[in-house]
Amino acid sequence: MKILVIGGGGREHALAWKLRQSPRVEKIWCAPGNGGIARDAECVPVDTKDVAAMVSLAERLHPDLTVVGPEQPLVLGIADEFAKRGLPIVGPSKEAAQLEGSKVFAKEFLMRRGIPTAATYGVFDSSGVAHTALSAVQWPVVIKADGLCAGKGVLVAPNMFEASAFIERLMEKHELGPGGDRILMEAALRGEELSYIVLTDGEQILPLAPARDHKRVFDGDLGPNTGGMGAYSAEGMIPATLEKAILETIVRPAIAGMAAEGRPYQGFLYFGLMLTPTGTKVLEFNCRMGDPETEALVVRMEFDLAAVLEAVATNRLGSVAPLWRPAASVCVVMASGGYPGEFQVGKKIDGLDAAAAGVPGAVVFHAGSRVETGKYYTSSGRSLVVSASGSSLQEATRAAYDAVGKIRFEGAHYRRDIGIRGAARVRASEE
Ligand code: AMP
Ligand code: GLY
Repeated sequence: MKILVIGGGGREHALAWKLRQSPRVEKIWCAPGNGGIARDAECVPVDTKDVAAMVSLAERLHPDLTVVGPEQPLVLGIADEFAKRGLPIVGPSKEAAQLEGSKVFAKEFLMRRGIPTAATYGVFDSSGVAHTALSAVQWPVVIKADGLCAGKGVLVAPNMFEASAFIERLMEKHELGPGGDRILMEAALRGEELSYIVLTDGEQILPLAPARDHKRVFDGDLGPNTGGMGAYSAEGMIPATLEKAILETIVRPAIAGMAAEGRPYQGFLYFGLMLTPTGTKVLEFNCRMGDPETEALVVRMEFDLAAVLEAVATNRLGSVAPLWRPAASVCVVMASGGYPGEFQVGKKIDGLDAAAAGVPGAVVFHAGSRVETGKYYTSSGRSLVVSASGSSLQEATRAAYDAVGKIRFEGAHYRRDIGIRGAARVRASEE
């Protein structure tokens, strides 16, 4: 098989790295990729906002399968254009990708299908009406831009002042673009978040191992939101009864509901869940794999991912049984100085070989790096994602941080508590 991976971050590096291990894969391209991904795939330039350019690329390369990392090409309709030309692709159609492309669509879908989610205060097209509505909400309130805003379109607002300022930024100053012209307001849910990702061919469902992201920049979940500072996945991180309930009350009704509404969903579907005291509720959908959840999950996949993705693209998912081993994994994001605010790039990265070779079970994925005469330099806010697996969460965490400790670049910062609370919880549930 020849596989084209669309995207150029840590998630796409992790996918390429895992796909390359398949005996049936003879070639991997990553478009556009990045300096570090070039170790595992041939990187080819492409603008991931330009569907026509991605179609021409695929027509030139003739991959047997294309896997799409980020949401934007899917929301723009890459899967429809590939399907029209008989190019096999893993990823939902434009209509199905609305689950991520429009928070209003997603919320109305959840309510129509009776899938548990936060109660809503309404949808607003005018900032005046939105400001007025704030007088009748309970605090905190959650404000969500309807359209894609590169992960910056949601605020859990603690008070009127912050809520009004966010509405102004979205709807009056248009700071996040057209995605913010319409907003949704909903009740804030309390509890622990869980990333529950499944693969589906539209009918059959293959759940991946559950994972947990760490969105805040500082230890103890403090500081501003980021694209994700690390993730973990572990056997036993949620009880089997809870997983069964998630599948029965959320996942199956969602996949069946999309099919029933004439938008059959094919590809990765990410359920952002809140485990509340009154049951699990859906916070959001993503029409793709999570980042950095992918970097944690791939090191536990003891199955042929290429075969599974081929089964998704050809509607034969039913025959696949995945094995997750070892029992746990952790990934730690190494970010550039200043991230998630203004950050510096172009810093030389040292210690990559020592980290990869010196720590069994560890692997370094590049989220944003470029290579110049054999040396790597940072090129984005999140630069590296260091993953490790182990027979327990403690072991995986130790290995990941051992590897992180061998890597240096000026201004690098990372959280020191990824997986630590999870380890305590898994232990407690075993007692
Ligand atoms: P995004 O990934 O940009 O859609 O943002 C989703 C994040 O916002 C989630 O991971 C939660 O941390 C938070 N969030 C979204 N909806 C709610 C809600 N109803 N209650 C509490 N937090 C929420
Ligand atoms: N880890 C959250 C996301 O991929 O959106």
